[in-house]
Amino acid sequence: MKTRPMTSADDLMPLVLAAMNWRDDDLWTDQCLLEDPQVARYVMDWMREGDAGVIAEEDDVAIGAAWWRTFTSSDPGYGYVADDVPELGLAVFAAHRRKGVARALMTELVDRAQAEGVPALSLSVEQGNVAARRLYDSAGFVKVGRVGDSDTLLLRIA
Ligand SMILES: CC(C)(COP(=O)(O)OP(=O)(O)OC[C@H]1O[C@@H](n2cnc3c(N)ncnc32)[C@H](O)[C@@H]1OP(=O)(O)O)[C@@H](O)C(=O)NCCC(=O)NCCS
Repeated sequence: MKTRPMTSADDLMPLVLAAMNWRDDDLWTDQCLLEDPQVARYVMDWMREGDAGVIAEEDDVAIGAAWWRTFTSSDPGYGYVADDVPELGLAVFAAHRRKGVARALMTELVDRAQAEGVPALSLSVEQGNVAARRLYDSAGFVKVGRVGDSDTLLLRIA
């Protein structure tokens, strides 16, 4: 596995879809994602200021990615905590799971946050997403809120 910066919305789109379809039911498609303004704002104008992402590849084919987008209080994301706290996204394609890809991607992004002086990363995780929740708990994220059936988690960066 190698990693590279995720600079294009074309790279990001299938991974946001994989994150939205975490139940592996493929309910979300490109079209319905772009038609839902609350979700479309996770991909629109990638990469604008406050965006960062790293993509994992095997044989030059994407297998997963971790990324963050910075939202504001006037247009908060699902896992919004503060204007200076970007919201993390993460997905690994099903065929490549349970091999440490997500943990490696998250470590790379957290290292980057530390290097750039980002104070914390937040995210929103739906109830029942056991795989993601275990990963976040083991990485040191703590629950700071609840919106609907999702928990808002925060990782403070030392
Ligand atoms: C969550 C996800 C990113 C994990 O990716 P991964 O590359 O398989 O994860 P890793 O192999 O790096 O595993 C890291 C840790 O996550 C947890 N984990 C991963 N998959 C798990 C599973 N199926 N069941 C329970 N725990 C799991 C474990 O704690 C694991 O550590 P361990 O291997 O030491 O036990 C992946 O399952 C995925 O893409 N899911 C769909 C999209 C999604 O849910 N994104 C997050 C939205 S908030």
